[in-house]
Amino acid sequence: MNKIIRLAFPIALGLALTGGVNAATVAQKRVYVSVGADVVKHLKQQKNTLIDIQTEASLKAAEADYHTVSIPASQVSRLSEIIHQEFMRCPGFFMHDSREAAVAFNQPATAAKQRKQVNYTIDNSETAYALLNNVSSDQLSATVQSLSSYHNRYYNATTGADASQWIKNKWQSIATGRDDITVEYFEHPAWRQPSVMVTITGTDTPDEYVIAGGHLDSINNSNTSLNAPGADDNASGIAVLTNTLDTIVASNYRPAKTVVLIGYAAEEVGLRGSQVIANDFKNKEKNVVGVVQFDMTGFQGSSSDIVFINDFTNGPQNEFMTQLVDTYMPDINYSFDICGYACSDHASWTKYGFAASFPFEAPFGQHNSTIHSTEDLSFDADHAVKFLRLSVVYLAELAKGGVNVEQQVKGSVTFSTSEVTVEEGNSVTLTVERVAGQDAQVSIDYATQDGTAIAGSDYIATSGTLTWSNQDNASQTITIDTNEVDSHKTFEVVLSNPQGGVQLGATNTITVKIGNKVVEEPTPTEPAEPVRVNSGGGGTLSSLWLGVLALCGFAARRRG
Ligand code: BES
Ligand code: ZN
Repeated sequence: MNKIIRLAFPIALGLALTGGVNAATVAQKRVYVSVGADVVKHLKQQKNTLIDIQTEASLKAAEADYHTVSIPASQVSRLSEIIHQEFMRCPGFFMHDSREAAVAFNQPATAAKQRKQVNYTIDNSETAYALLNNVSSDQLSATVQSLSSYHNRYYNATTGADASQWIKNKWQSIATGRDDITVEYFEHPAWRQPSVMVTITGTDTPDEYVIAGGHLDSINNSNTSLNAPGADDNASGIAVLTNTLDTIVASNYRPAKTVVLIGYAAEEVGLRGSQVIANDFKNKEKNVVGVVQFDMTGFQGSSSDIVFINDFTNGPQNEFMTQLVDTYMPDINYSFDICGYACSDHASWTKYGFAASFPFEAPFGQHNSTIHSTEDLSFDADHAVKFLRLSVVYLAELAKGGVNVEQQVKGSVTFSTSEVTVEEGNSVTLTVERVAGQDAQVSIDYATQDGTAIAGSDYIATSGTLTWSNQDNASQTITIDTNEVDSHKTFEVVLSNPQGGVQLGATNTITVKIGNKVVEEPTPTEPAEPVRVNSGGGGTLSSLWLGVLALCGFAARRRG
């Protein structure tokens, strides 16, 4: 019977989408969802008149606050609607691709049960302050800008996969020169967008893991094929992770435990990437000591700087985080709130039995109301930097280990921005900064690299070496001439070969866009682009999620 359900459902759904099977056939099929115990109670009180809900005997929930039940596939959007209206959650449930996945989801977290109780201590202040000294908010906005410029970062869109690649390249470029750091994709065969994972192998106990993550996807809930800049939700969290890595490298921090930084794919469609990853850690019996989630850091919605989310998180670790704020960030005030549902990837770790925390930008309801729309464009770097500071002290005190002070004071070299535009025929001047140190004479090489613009015809190939003497941290410039181009073209300038102990900084590649001269002409009216609904294609349940997410757009606007 189970086998029939597993095989028949995707086939029936596929046929239904192509018009081969009538709606009544699909309506017989059941899907598995995990919902709050309160929702189950509510539906059962209504004697199943709203939704035909069944608790499957074999699917006992691992924790008491939710249940895994089956419902008819045709009632998924109705369930979503009820959860919005009655419980103000969106979508407020996990959906499983198969019965197998639902069973796996409900396994008791054996790895977590075997895990020793974490002994939280705050005694690594030298490392914490060394990291804090190298924290800078400079690059946060540049990262958010680069990520928001993708049409969307939808989990099954090409642009969603492109955004993962941008993050992987960025993280790889920051980690150049550290052989203890690897950057790789965590591929998800069911959809296009991979997750991205940085592993910094621990010096003493590499089989213990400390994880900081945030989702890299974005969504427009009114129509998933539309523009979804997702500046706050959640380019702002990826920016915090990016600068966390940059601060680690700039400080030459070597954690004793293994530190993993993760950009999760497919959060906006049901925490799908993080569920796969947390499940993978559990299956491999990895000893995850702690997890922190950064999702929405760039909007200050109240007088609280940091709001610790108290549901689907770990109490003792939350307490530890507040002590970190008290100790290292006394200028920061914090408070507590709940989401009321599994609102982000921390919930995936919690469900698999790991200790997770979620420091959030504002009290729930006072958060950025533009999320999941074309308007999620603003970003407050001064707010986000508080989360960056928390991120580095969390690592210093939970993953411990130390910094190499000698190398640290030589600093790192970085472009001041990751992108610049020049009008054809003009020269462009790029600024290179030496940050976080000034000891010793250091140098760096630079060279242009063709993109769509070709050296010789579109611009003049340029390369050389920039040298800073001991105690010199003045900015330096590189000037490159461009020619006339027939259409917009780009090339890159890459920094390499750091000498004298200086590190390659966060932005060691800059994209130069050669634009055409502006000619005054009346603009002809363009025909509107046809609205196309992305059918997903990767996951068997994508089309159902579309319905759910369309409703979420409605709920998110009401909620915000
Ligand atoms: N960043 C949000 C989570 C969030 C939103 C937390 C508002 C607190 C306040 C996240 O990307 C998101 O949109 N989550 C979904 C749920 C998820 C299971 C699809 C949501 O909140 O609707
Ligand atoms: Zn979101």
